[in-house]
Amino acid sequence: MVQSRGMKIQKRILIAGNWKMNPTSVKDAKSLFHNISKGISKKIKYVDVVVAAPYPYLSVLKNKKMVLGAQHVHHEKSGRHTGEVSVGMLKSLDVKYVIIGHSERRAAGETNEHIEKSFIAAVNGGLKAILCIGERKRDSKGNHFNFVEDQFKNAFKKFPKNLLGRVVIAYEPVWAISCGDAKGKTATPADVEEMKLFIQKLLVDSFGRNTIKKVPIIYGGSANSNNAEALLIDGKIDGFLAGGASLRPKEFISMINIAQHYADTHTS
Ligand code: PGA
Repeated sequence: MVQSRGMKIQKRILIAGNWKMNPTSVKDAKSLFHNISKGISKKIKYVDVVVAAPYPYLSVLKNKKMVLGAQHVHHEKSGRHTGEVSVGMLKSLDVKYVIIGHSERRAAGETNEHIEKSFIAAVNGGLKAILCIGERKRDSKGNHFNFVEDQFKNAFKKFPKNLLGRVVIAYEPVWAISCGDAKGKTATPADVEEMKLFIQKLLVDSFGRNTIKKVPIIYGGSANSNNAEALLIDGKIDGFLAGGASLRPKEFISMINIAQHYADTHTS
């Protein structure tokens, strides 16, 4: 996520789009992908753009300005797992990222055990894993920190420290996701910065001090071009996992431009 530029460390931002179960046809998927790619300026240097599309579209989307992501992967290499897709299958389509443990999959029954296994299988197989963690609700007692800590510890129980460079953590409070209970709410930059520091402390406690720079922490939950700048500057976040905004090319491109401007003017 970081690279050297003289004495300074160049900031890089990750903008990942989670298309979820959209759009509804391969024709529309190609057109959405094309409209995003044509709007990405050649000047974009320090922003990594990922599109996590539904499985059937991954074999038809190709572009040098963006890389592909999947929204889930199974931990086994092959076998009797109807409806599942393996790391090897994704890699054969040049997929580079996979979302792990998204709250919508957790709500549909994905367990901590499944998440831990697919998380490790993904990084072992050479994919970058975007691990989603985030509380369902907040209360004044701060129980959301316990909730996030629990999800973190379950996912990282047996995680190989040498593969932390393939991990991105997406802090996605479920209450802020645009189709969640409270539509349209976004975490404030202060909420996000506080949770980023908390997650970094969990990383340090589990893996040691110098792991912080290896693991970008991004934010998801109604992220868009109106809140992106404040979340980058004041929330000190390393990028976004955007759902709704990634289906609107102008909006998504605008987030990429904001991220580039931010990366241009900041060091890590
Ligand atoms: P949203 O979705 O940006 O539409 O809130 C984010 C996500 O679920 O990853």
